[in-house]
Amino acid sequence: LHLYNYSLSSLLEISVLFAFEQGKILENIGICTQVNFVRYMQGRKTLGADAKLFIKDLWFEKVPVRIYQPKAPSASQRRGVMFFHGGGWVFGSLGKISSRKNIITHENLCRFIARESESVVVSVGYRLAPEHKYPAAYEDCLNATQHFLQHLEHYGVDPARVIVCGDSAGGNLAAAVSQTLAGRSDFPKLRAQILIYPGLQALDFNLPSYQQNRGVPLLFRERAAFYMLQYLNGNATNLEEVLEGSHISVDIQLNYRKWVSPDNIPEKFKVRGYKPRVLLDCTTEVFEKVKRFCEPMLCPLLAEDTILQQLPESFILTCEYDVLRDDGLLYKKRLEDNGVRVTWCHLEDGFHGIINSFNSDWLSFPAGKRGLDNIVDFLRSL
Ligand SMILES: *[C@@H]1O[C@H](CO)[C@@H](O)[C@H](O)[C@H]1NC(C)=O
Ligand SMILES: *[C@@H]1O[C@H](CO)[C@@H](O)[C@H](O)[C@H]1NC(C)=O
Repeated sequence: LHLYNYSLSSLLEISVLFAFEQGKILENIGICTQVNFVRYMQGRKTLGADAKLFIKDLWFEKVPVRIYQPKAPSASQRRGVMFFHGGGWVFGSLGKISSRKNIITHENLCRFIARESESVVVSVGYRLAPEHKYPAAYEDCLNATQHFLQHLEHYGVDPARVIVCGDSAGGNLAAAVSQTLAGRSDFPKLRAQILIYPGLQALDFNLPSYQQNRGVPLLFRERAAFYMLQYLNGNATNLEEVLEGSHISVDIQLNYRKWVSPDNIPEKFKVRGYKPRVLLDCTTEVFEKVKRFCEPMLCPLLAEDTILQQLPESFILTCEYDVLRDDGLLYKKRLEDNGVRVTWCHLEDGFHGIINSFNSDWLSFPAGKRGLDNIVDFLRSL
C-alpha cells in the first residue's frame, strides 16, 4: 500500500472513528444511540440539482426509492440499474429530496453511474438494522426490484437490460436478489449483477483476507462480523464466537468447506500472511442464535449449484486491502465453476469503501476512480 494512500485512508478512518467515538460518548450519557449519531453525521451534506439528470423520489410498493433518469433524449430504451447502497445494513439512507440531504457518497455514485453509462438508476432506501433485522433489507430490495421489473416501460427501460448493483452490504443484497430472481419466469431475466466488494458469508472470519487486513480502514475485521450480527439479530451478542469461528458446528463447517475454504483462495493471495485456523465446535445455544447464517439469502456464497447456474453475467470488484476480498474471490470461483461469465476487477491498491471516495471534495483515490470506470465500461458493454 502506498504510503500516501495509507495516510489518507487513515484520515478517512479517523473521521469515521471520530463520529463513532463521539456517538459512543453521547450513547453513554443517554442522548442518542451511537448508530443514530453516525447516521446524522453522514447525512448532513447536501447536493444540488443535476444538469444532466432528472432525480425523483418515489415509492415502489412500500419501499422508498430515488430514480435518476438521463435528461438527454434517447432513440431506444435505456439500461436500468437497481442500486443497493452499502453501510453494513445499518447506515445509509436516501435523505429528504426537499432539502437534498443525502449520504453524499452514494448520491454521487448513483449520479455518476446514471450520467456516464446513460442508464436509469434506481437507488433503494431499504429498511436498516438494528431496528429492522434480516430479512427486512433483502425483502425491500427484492420487492422494489420486482416492482421495477413490472413497470419498466413507464421509465423507458429495456426489459432485456436490467442490472442489479450494490457495494459492500449492498453487494450482499444484490447477490441475494439475483439468486431469488434466477430461473423465475414471471419476471424479465436480469441482464447482469455488479457486486462491489460484497460481504457474502459469515462462516469464516479467519480467511486470509480477514487475517491480513484485520486492522485496515475502512472496515476492520471485527466490524465486519459486528455488522453481520446487527443485520441478523439486531445486536452483536456472540461477536467473540463468530470471530473465532465457534458459532457453527464442525459438521456444518466441513459440509461447506467445498465452497468456504482458504484452499479455494489462490496462493498469491496468501503471501502477505496466513495462519490456518483450527476448527472449533459450537454450543447449541450459540448456534441457535446464528443458524440463519446458513441461509443463502443472508450468505449468498452458500447457495446451491443449481441456483448459481442460472445467474446472469457478473461483475465482481475486489480490493487487496479489504477483509471482504476473499468473499469476492470465493464467489467468483463458484460462479465460474457453474459456468457463469465473470468480469473481475481487482484493485491492487484498493481498500474497502474506496469507490465512494472517487468524487469527494477533500479526498479521492485514483484506484477508486479506476474501479468506477471499469463498472461504467461493463455497463456500457451490456
Ligand atoms: C411487495 O410487498 C407487498 C407487501 O408485502 C406486496 O403486497 C406486493 O405484492 C409486493 N410487490 C411485489 C412486486 O412483489
Ligand atoms: C440479541 O439477539 C438475540 C437473537 O435475536 C436475542 O436472543 C438476544 O436476547 C439479544 N440480546 C440482547 C442483549 O438484546
